[in-house]
Amino acid sequence: MSIKILNDEKKWFLETKNTAYVIGVDEDKNLQHLYWGEKFPYISDYPGVLVKQEFPFDNFEQIIKEEFSPWGGIRYKEPGLKVIYEDQVRDLILKYKNYKLIDSDNKCKTLIIYLIDSTYDLEVELNYRLIEEYDLIERWVNIKNKGNQSVQIEQILSAQWHLPDMQNYRLSYLYGRWASEIKLSRIELGYGKKILESRRGITSHQFNPWFAVDNGQSDEDFGKVYYGILAWSGNWKIVFEKDSYSRLQVSGGINDFDFSWQLKPGECFITPKFVAGYTPNGFGDASRKLHHYQLDYILPRNINHKIRPVLYNSWEATQFNVSEEGQKKLAGKAASLGVELFVLDDGWFGERNDDTAGLGDWYVNKEKFPNDLASLISYVNKLGIDFGLWVEPEMVNKNSKLYNLHPDWVYYFPNRPRSESRNQLVLNLAKKEVVEYIYNFMNKLLNNNIKYIKWDMNRPFSEPGWTEALKSQQQEIWVRHVQGLYHILDKLRKKHSEVIFESCSGGGGRVDLGILQRTDQVWVSDNTDAFDRLKIQEGFSYAYTPKIMMSWVTDSPHWLNHRKLSLEYRFNVAMMGSMGVGGNLNNWSKTEMRLAKEKIRQYKKIREIIQHGDQYRLLPTWEGNLVAVEYVSKDKNKVVLFIFLHSQQFGEKLPPVKLKGLISDFLYKFQDRNKKIILSGKALEEIGVKVNLKGDFDSKLIILEKQNKRNN
Ligand code: GLA
Repeated sequence: MSIKILNDEKKWFLETKNTAYVIGVDEDKNLQHLYWGEKFPYISDYPGVLVKQEFPFDNFEQIIKEEFSPWGGIRYKEPGLKVIYEDQVRDLILKYKNYKLIDSDNKCKTLIIYLIDSTYDLEVELNYRLIEEYDLIERWVNIKNKGNQSVQIEQILSAQWHLPDMQNYRLSYLYGRWASEIKLSRIELGYGKKILESRRGITSHQFNPWFAVDNGQSDEDFGKVYYGILAWSGNWKIVFEKDSYSRLQVSGGINDFDFSWQLKPGECFITPKFVAGYTPNGFGDASRKLHHYQLDYILPRNINHKIRPVLYNSWEATQFNVSEEGQKKLAGKAASLGVELFVLDDGWFGERNDDTAGLGDWYVNKEKFPNDLASLISYVNKLGIDFGLWVEPEMVNKNSKLYNLHPDWVYYFPNRPRSESRNQLVLNLAKKEVVEYIYNFMNKLLNNNIKYIKWDMNRPFSEPGWTEALKSQQQEIWVRHVQGLYHILDKLRKKHSEVIFESCSGGGGRVDLGILQRTDQVWVSDNTDAFDRLKIQEGFSYAYTPKIMMSWVTDSPHWLNHRKLSLEYRFNVAMMGSMGVGGNLNNWSKTEMRLAKEKIRQYKKIREIIQHGDQYRLLPTWEGNLVAVEYVSKDKNKVVLFIFLHSQQFGEKLPPVKLKGLISDFLYKFQDRNKKIILSGKALEEIGVKVNLKGDFDSKLIILEKQNKRNN
């Protein structure tokens, strides 16, 4: 049994395959966090609640590890919940009431612990859902107003995690900016707070809601790592607070910045999930657990088992200059390469000739597509491939019919500027009519034979006014926007269940587990320079499965860095996730087209391993001249190895790359350049494969397959 309960002592033992998480109630009905880490053989091994005692200056609530702390009484740490009652009381005391165990979804057990305010009719449900096989716990909070007066919520987080005492706490996190998203950074946490957050209305390019904490000595394969990830696509925050007793509390959820929510009598508010886990086996194990959790539990169920198609996207080739003829030509070439999905990006609608106009006017531009999209779609389908389309539904250009009709559909404050970014404003999805408008045009669009949607969101929020709402509700927009978006996507998915949705936000501005519950893949960065991508893809791999990582092969020299890279190198980088092609095929030579066709054929053979297998970061981008990433199939029969050399110097001989995750006595056959080699899993892990790369930006892809046993 995964959740053990000691009723007399009011203790809960949440056990996953390898870990345990223990909560208890003390004599004052405070809910105390007791333990999180390795699973012990006996229940009596786990620590008990701290018994009330006098501390000279710090009161008891500050000494215990509160499982979910309200702001009230004598408390100064980051609270999980802060409210204002109608009578202006701003004090909240939560006490244990009871619990419930739910076993309903067969796969996972959920424990709900109910807390109530000592005076007012406010109930707080703490939810714990165990993902046993991956040693993860999903936590979220449901707050219910059972009284007859409104309550104003000022802060409501999803969970607070208490880490065991460590000598040092090293935080790993993901930071970036446009064209440079999601790169790994590490710092030692000192006393006080470190906050990761977004205040931009979207998950953001700047920080991604993932973290890992270790004692500074863990590596890819060894050492204790605590890690977590949030399922929210709007403003979020994760607060790391090392107190003066050197204990670390990690609190996270919806950002309280500029947030307030009116909870009317009878209403409830459910927070997004904050998922976290513990492993003694290093960062690699933590990442693989998150990858498989996403594949099995997060990604939309209707198509999560399907392999992602190789797509072609015309954006980098044509920008806004799209036409039926031009797209047909590119589609023909893409199909000849073995591409399975042709995507028409920006520029097909309204008066959209550049980024100054047209957003909001979701009708086909007849000058560019005189026969509507139908003729292009059927042309593409006749080539034997699917058709996909770009949209940016949450946006409007001032220069558009929609804005002229509904200037009040955007976020704005009266008497203040409406700041534009990329010449556009954000539509107010807190408004029902806006949500309806978006759903209706999307639904109509999808009645065409469209099999894929790239859902873009190219600017963060500003002047977040919702003027006609009640004063007490105006700051709800940050959450209502995300709820509106989720509602539209959920409804569209239900109606058009075969369509693949890709989340894009000027590159990787909206990548999180919330959006991934309703989209199948993400655009990671507008930066498609293959060398830069190595770093971005590496950061991405700490938190997200390679299956959802769209990666295109584009032109060289690259528009961003003017870097020249061979087509082979560009393909090898793009093959490490879900591959696409985004170059201008009209300019590719016959030799390049031949190689592209060959690489796409090769990718199709190995993509099951890349998209559903286990990923190992063998050599990271920051350690030297070589980068190596390996993928192993579930049955460990097939292995794909990518190696990249930055620059050879002094005629150096490069060390062999040692593999991981293989079966020791399996024999693996592979071809290295023209040589056929057979080695055991053990030898490949101990000795490795030779790296005969040369010059600058060389790369290679090695595919290993299990061979029947030799007789010797
Ligand atoms: C964003 C996306 C790009 C492309 C453009 C179109 O920048 O990230 O891939 O779709 O918008 O305007």
